Amino acid sequence: MSSSTARKLLSLKLMVGSTPTKCYRILGVEVCFKLEYANPTGSHKDRIAVYMIEAAIREQGSLDCVAEVSSGNTATSVAWAAGVLGLKSILFVEKRASEVKKSFIRYLGGILVEIGDEGLSRQEAIEEAARQGCLLLDQNSNEYNHLAHYEGTGVELLHDMNGDIDVFVMGIGTGGTITGVGRRLKEELGNTLVVGVTPKGSAIAGGGGADFIEGLSSKTVPPLFNRYRRYVDRIVEVGEREAIEGVGLVRKLTGLLPGPSTGAAFQALRKLVEDGVVDRGSKAAIIVADRASRYLGLLARLGG
Ligand SMILES: Cc1ncc(COP(=O)(O)O)c(C=O)c1O
Repeated sequence: MSSSTARKLLSLKLMVGSTPTKCYRILGVEVCFKLEYANPTGSHKDRIAVYMIEAAIREQGSLDCVAEVSSGNTATSVAWAAGVLGLKSILFVEKRASEVKKSFIRYLGGILVEIGDEGLSRQEAIEEAARQGCLLLDQNSNEYNHLAHYEGTGVELLHDMNGDIDVFVMGIGTGGTITGVGRRLKEELGNTLVVGVTPKGSAIAGGGGADFIEGLSSKTVPPLFNRYRRYVDRIVEVGEREAIEGVGLVRKLTGLLPGPSTGAAFQALRKLVEDGVVDRGSKAAIIVADRASRYLGLLARLGG
């Protein structure tokens, strides 16, 4: 790796993470929100983009082009990090992803390739990337996705909450965040309840993949999640409309402005408290993956 690349990677690493955590008394529970939208492009995916690209450069020696399949946030983060490092980036993003994300990717210099709602199979993506001379980062199975959250987000969250976390709730997309943070919390605290959230009817919950919440896995079970699912204690399913209502609830109760996947996580926590699974007086952690402003069309349409 050249010294210029090493310097740029260090500068990228110093820019991501150390995000703030804000706590509120809600439903008799202390709910702490880690605001990942404070990362440079506005989501938790900046962490994994830098981790995965750094590892790829280290392993390959040098790199000209990276590619990724994404619901939009990882694509944005990859376009940003690749741009700083002078790499070409090709991003395969579902047509139905938010227009804000697609415009952002183009603005950052990424080559956006729109794909159908079924996504691309891993093999198709690898082949398509290779045809263009690019390396597929493959967040759905890349170990550095998990490690970015195990070594970064999870450690920060423990520090932010003084090592006092009874329950951790997070939507599952690739599973990188829930398994990375979940593993760290289990190793350090032992008894934290780790709750994964999926759209209603998801394959992870044993269904056929019905509802759609942007960023969360509906029809597939990502290999990365499977590899580390032992760190997840329970899955809670949330409907799309319910997730959007969750965004509105968080906004009214706290003033925070999260995206739909955080609305889903909040609704899952609410159900667990109402069902008596989480005791009043507990301390809960939720990752705010991104901001409402990425989804204004959807939120206006569905009333979030
Ligand atoms: C908005 C949003 N929330 C949650 C997630 C899930 O994160 P992970 O892929 O780490 O499971 C994603 C993933 O794309 C996302 O974009």
